Amino acid sequence: MSTVTTTTTTSTTLSADLTNSSSSYIPRGPVEAELTFLSSPEDGSVPFHYVEDPPEGHPKYNYGIVQHKVQIDDIRGYENEYNLDKDAFDTVRNVASATTYLTFDSDEEVQKLYYPEVEQLLLEKVPGAHRVIIFDHTIRRQDPEANRQPVMRAHSDQTDRAAETRVRLHVPDPKDAEEALKGRYRIINVWRPINGAVQSFPLAVASAASVQDSDLMPVEHRYPNRTGETIGVKYNPNLRWKYWSGMSNDERLLLKCSDTKNGVGQRVPHTAFVDPRTPEGAKPRESIEVRALVLG
Ligand code: OGA
Ligand code: FE
Repeated sequence: MSTVTTTTTTSTTLSADLTNSSSSYIPRGPVEAELTFLSSPEDGSVPFHYVEDPPEGHPKYNYGIVQHKVQIDDIRGYENEYNLDKDAFDTVRNVASATTYLTFDSDEEVQKLYYPEVEQLLLEKVPGAHRVIIFDHTIRRQDPEANRQPVMRAHSDQTDRAAETRVRLHVPDPKDAEEALKGRYRIINVWRPINGAVQSFPLAVASAASVQDSDLMPVEHRYPNRTGETIGVKYNPNLRWKYWSGMSNDERLLLKCSDTKNGVGQRVPHTAFVDPRTPEGAKPRESIEVRALVLG
């Protein structure tokens, strides 16, 4: 009995040492970390955010921003327990890609070389999918100079209304679009790192099975000429947060942002987080997410 205790202590110390001394250390296993959530406007008004300067006399935004420490479990080794219908996310491993040489700096190249791979992957891995239309992508770099950085706020990307608009916008033939709107359609993001195993700013996801509609808060994104909508997430201790430790370039996380089918997980709240175990000198996270409309 005492031998077991000694062994445990030794290995804990060892891995702690590794955390501090090796910049190539990849944090794994469950972790407690701070996530950022929204809270409803106190006066009960519709939550909004002005993307540019607000009109005279209006605040930039009218909701609260709150941080909470949460437990985030590692799904590595348990990948098969999660799926798009139940959790609104899924994992794919060992994905062959011709993009190993890509810098991802050229949008044209990404569209020409990477989009077809994502389309194929979704057709293969999403049960029922018969048509995939990719509509955009975002590259994020954890670098103050980068255009887009990891998102440090729990959110979901698309409201159902936005998804319907996407169908009308991206299915070229209006008759096909009307047909598509009668069937099932989903919006799915395909997320992956592009600079090797994730050491810092990993992506946390909350299983849709733990989410209630009352946890979600549509936020008007007010541009000068139009108003868009995103979904903020309120803190609820019932949300079950997960991450996939050390995700590598040949792995894909599928994030479902909307689904017209009733009775399944509709959308997965997600956010990047600061992993307190990230070693000093860790490489900054770089990732790409490709957004797709999946019919069927
Ligand atoms: C997304 C997303 C944030 C990040 O893929 O939709 O919100 O930090 N990503 O990668
Ligand atoms: Fe997102």
